[in-house]
Amino acid sequence: MSSEKKPKEKARLHVRNKNRERYDLEALKTVQPELKGFIKPNKFGVESIDFSNPRAVKLLNKALLNHYYGIENWEFPDENLCPPIPGRADYIHHIADVLGDTNAGNVPSGNKITCLEIGVGASCIYPIIGVTEYGWNFIGSDIDPKSIVSAKHIVNSNPSLKGKIECRLQKSARDIFRGILSPDEKIDLVICNPPFHSSMEEAQKGSRRKKRTSRGKK
Ligand SMILES: C[S@@+](CC[C@H](N)C(=O)[O-])C[C@H]1O[C@@H](n2cnc3c(N)ncnc32)[C@H](O)[C@@H]1O
Repeated sequence: MSSEKKPKEKARLHVRNKNRERYDLEALKTVQPELKGFIKPNKFGVESIDFSNPRAVKLLNKALLNHYYGIENWEFPDENLCPPIPGRADYIHHIADVLGDTNAGNVPSGNKITCLEIGVGASCIYPIIGVTEYGWNFIGSDIDPKSIVSAKHIVNSNPSLKGKIECRLQKSARDIFRGILSPDEKIDLVICNPPFHSSMEEAQKGSRRKKRTSRGKK
């Protein structure tokens, strides 16, 4: 089959998403050799990953970030859930379109755009994709000191991210902007993937549910 006729496997993804077509498993195995042990034929006889295994899912996403985005060092604690790269990239492309709508239809790229992410998390995933796809600058805040340490470590371990992402600890869980931005600081957009919890009990329930789901027990 010619490459033009290759089926778009994930046509629901944004047109600029790098993962609209079937994953190139050979390339992914090359950048992440440990992934080999988690690839098996599925019920249709096609090579696939065991998506019910959190280790396999993390290795797949590390490989995607390495092969398609050039990020070689993406380490964060296993207690933090692994974000799926294609979905996070989609969000960045859609907000890029929002910026484009107020810029004569052209998506702005480079240093002139600064994005603030409230709740950057340990994986720093949205800034990573925003920097690699559009060259924007990012400020990432979080109330969790361990997440800030982890995000900073990722930034400092990847030359393409250094100097583009600043991670700042929010000391008050009740605040969003206060303590993060100085009065004269200007940003172009704010993004957030919020924790939708009204109490600690609800948060713990949500996190247990997510873990079960990521292991395939819905
Ligand atoms: C659902 S996670 C999102 C992590 C990452 N952005 C992602 O999409 O995978 C929400 C994050 O928001 C952080 N958070 C909660 N309240 C916050 C606040 N007031 N300011 C900054 N971060 C906050 C949490 O610690 C957590 O890391």
